[in-house]
Amino acid sequence: MSRHDNTAPGRLRRAAFFVLPVLAFGLGSLLSTFYYWNHVREMKLDPLRRENDQLNQKIQNLQRQQSKTEAVFPYASIMEENFGASVKMPDKQLKTHLNSIIIRNREVHAPTRDELLKSLYGIGPQAVSFYDGFAFPYDQAVRYPTSKYVSNFVRDHQNVFDLIESLMLPKEDDIRFIVEAGSFVGSSANVWVKFARRHNATLLCIDTWEGDVNMWVLPQFKQPMSITYGRGHLYDNFIQNIIDGNSTDVVLPMAVSSLVGAKILWAQKFSPDVVYIDTAHEQGETLGELFAYWEILRPGGVLIGDDYDYFPAVKHDVDEFVAYKNLHLSFTKSGKTFAIKKPRSNS
Ligand SMILES: *[C@@H]1O[C@H](CO)[C@@H](O)[C@H](O)[C@H]1NC(C)=O
Ligand SMILES: *[C@@H]1O[C@H](CO)[C@@H](O)[C@H](O)[C@H]1NC(C)=O
Repeated sequence: MSRHDNTAPGRLRRAAFFVLPVLAFGLGSLLSTFYYWNHVREMKLDPLRRENDQLNQKIQNLQRQQSKTEAVFPYASIMEENFGASVKMPDKQLKTHLNSIIIRNREVHAPTRDELLKSLYGIGPQAVSFYDGFAFPYDQAVRYPTSKYVSNFVRDHQNVFDLIESLMLPKEDDIRFIVEAGSFVGSSANVWVKFARRHNATLLCIDTWEGDVNMWVLPQFKQPMSITYGRGHLYDNFIQNIIDGNSTDVVLPMAVSSLVGAKILWAQKFSPDVVYIDTAHEQGETLGELFAYWEILRPGGVLIGDDYDYFPAVKHDVDEFVAYKNLHLSFTKSGKTFAIKKPRSNS
């Protein structure tokens, strides 16, 4: 065998021995140049993009944190935005009114009865009694006295009043203005009057008096509803029961939905010391009402609701509300009625 292998495979091997390292070196240089060029562009030539990337990273982290809260309380965060926040969102014409001198100079406060008469119904203090001249329409409706409707609240009321007084501080927490949302025929309103009198407070009852789902559907509500021409007569029974209960000096009615009522009070800068929510007890509706009335409740005030133990929708919404807002829930001894005290510092 000679020193030089002149066969074809031999020549190929010799060529490869020289060419492959050159190819490898060339490829390596190309790759490192490419990498360096990219790196330089990234680090030096494009600082704006780097800042942008960092900002985007921050935003992504924030979004991740936020969606964590929303994942725990998806329902509450939507309700807070739609009911709580909406209470403080006047439309254009209302905004103009709020900027008028009379409202702008008014502090948020608990209104007196005379103020309510004037600003809600345009009635002066010298006017005849609010209830004078009322006549029950016996030709259209069945008379339904409060004795026919003894609610859980009526049974539990002494415990409720004790609980409120234990949550309010005697010197700091005057009770001048109580709002009941959901009054039906006035059984609980007539009971609240005892408490209101003790504190010289006014009780404003907010209800459409048009009934909820049960009242339109269940046979036991046929009488108090007395629907004629597609409309019920709960309001007439309520007014007659307030008159018969000797409660006309304490109780005033406002025939609107709970949400509209909360917005009206906010727009008038009227803030209740105690709110009692006894509306439809429907899931979602109760949560919306909790957010709406929490907005207008005075710091240091108390929000009350009944049937916590009896209506699963109430328990569901109240539990979600206090968990979301990180609040303390109190109960009467019976566990029927719940209470939440609004912290003095903003919450
Ligand atoms: C309520 O008013 C009466 C009469 O003005 C007054 O004597 C009483 O102290 C008041 N009570 C409270 C709790 O403010
Ligand atoms: C209302 O007052 C009248 C007259 O004083 C009295 O006869 C009646 O028993 C009172 N009703 C209630 C429910 O207190």
